[in-house]
Amino acid sequence: MHALRSVLEQAQQMRVAVGHFNVADLVLLKAVFVSAQELKVPVLVGVSEGEREFMGVPQISVLVRSLREEFDFPIFLNADHTHSLVKAVEAAKAGFDAVVFDLSALPFEQNVRQTKEAVEALKAINPSILVEGEIGDIGTGSEIHTEAPDLSKSLTTPEEARQFVESTGVDILAPAVGNRHGMLKSMVQGEARKHLDIERIAQIKKAARILLTLHGGSGTDDNDLRNAIAAGINIVHINTELRVAWRRGLESGLAKQPDEVAPYKILPTAVDSVKQVVLSRLKLFNSEQKLGKGL
Ligand code: G3H
Ligand code: ZN
Repeated sequence: MHALRSVLEQAQQMRVAVGHFNVADLVLLKAVFVSAQELKVPVLVGVSEGEREFMGVPQISVLVRSLREEFDFPIFLNADHTHSLVKAVEAAKAGFDAVVFDLSALPFEQNVRQTKEAVEALKAINPSILVEGEIGDIGTGSEIHTEAPDLSKSLTTPEEARQFVESTGVDILAPAVGNRHGMLKSMVQGEARKHLDIERIAQIKKAARILLTLHGGSGTDDNDLRNAIAAGINIVHINTELRVAWRRGLESGLAKQPDEVAPYKILPTAVDSVKQVVLSRLKLFNSEQKLGKGL
């Protein structure tokens, strides 16, 4: 039996991070699963409210569980960026392993109060579910953005992090440390990268003493990611990079076989394209020499 909490604790001890990849269809799920299987590292699959509405809440839960059970493999499911208790409860009842309860847009006190209530409600449904809380502003969706508004004033402070964790009882914290959702066009082209406040991550870890997630991983500088993991990040979320690879792979699959209509003959090109991204990110998060030792 694989349990997410022990996988994360082991990753913390080994100073590696568990990759979290968002999925919205079977192409993405397959690419994430086969990559993790190939590298023999545990993996988290995430579905935002929009992604799970498209896939079906019980349906994605059954799919991930069937992979875990059939292959005896540590693949887990997270209800990413859940903005209401109703949706969080729905995911917990469907058997999700974790919920990101995201009220970071609300004033701090309100976020604390409602996150605490959510932790209690979700643990009553499933005592081993992990609940992640969010503070600070890390921007909007996993899309290609035309501009990057200044978020430097809403970075998480170590004191806020400590207070939030103590008052809510969350298992995992997602801070704002220079990360942001989505990519600029220049990042898709590989000309620009996101940079992280590593010192802040280290201070937050020291103050809050909790598992930490880095959201908005797409387009982040590789060295910053390595340093962030060394400073205390335990989970890294990647979505936009996968979406870009999905689209490119799909377009090239269609272009290569203009007369083909069988999806299972066209879609493997999209799976391969997404797989390249997942493999390279998983290698980075798990540092080459530790690959396969976390299973
Ligand atoms: O929760 C999802 C992630 O934080 C993804 O962010 O699209 O910038 O990789 P990203
Ligand atoms: Zn996120």
